[in-house]
Amino acid sequence: MSFTVAIDGPAAAGKGTISKGVSAHFGFAHLDTGLLYRAVGRRTLDGMEPVAAAQALAAEELGQGDLRTAEIAQAASKVAVIPKVRSALVDFQRSFATRPGGAVLDGRDIGTVICPEAEVKLFVTASAEVRAERRYLELSANGSDTTRAQVLQDVRERDARDAERSTAPMKPAEDAVLLDTSNLSIEAALAEAIAIVEDAKRKAF
Ligand code: DC
Repeated sequence: MSFTVAIDGPAAAGKGTISKGVSAHFGFAHLDTGLLYRAVGRRTLDGMEPVAAAQALAAEELGQGDLRTAEIAQAASKVAVIPKVRSALVDFQRSFATRPGGAVLDGRDIGTVICPEAEVKLFVTASAEVRAERRYLELSANGSDTTRAQVLQDVRERDARDAERSTAPMKPAEDAVLLDTSNLSIEAALAEAIAIVEDAKRKAF
């Protein structure tokens, strides 16, 4: 039987950590759907046309090389506005979501477009300043010489592009639970998410 947890929200809100923690806690499979758009973005940086890149995408590519660079993030956000890129990626995400044993998918449109029937929908958010600071610390720890101001500008640009696009814009589903992590430790945010999933599981089974 399938059980889907949809976790949406902007970059660096804590979605990734919460998704990994929830999937580990319940033994569910996890798909970071941003990696799909990043892998397509990387192919376009290599000169490929975005729709062809999305249609030809193979699951193995998600684990190849470093997809988490700032350059690939911007490319991903640009290809993600193209409706045919998004539609080419739908089947893969839906079949992952309904695999037996439970699945956690995190992204921008999981609760609204990909899995509107998900048993749990969370929208994880935090202020742009808090998210930029988290991303800055992560990038500096990885040796990048970026500045706080640059990272904040990147976060704002990407938020605007993700939220304002006409196809599948980033927004909470009407029945999503909002989790604002601006003033929460990651442990507290994860504990809250686990409690919400636990409750939904009890109702579903
Ligand atoms: O979550 P991320 O930073 O890895 O996502 C990279 C880009 O991909 C992001 O700017 C928007 C896009 N994206 C999307 O449009 N829909 C998703 N479900 C996941 C990511």
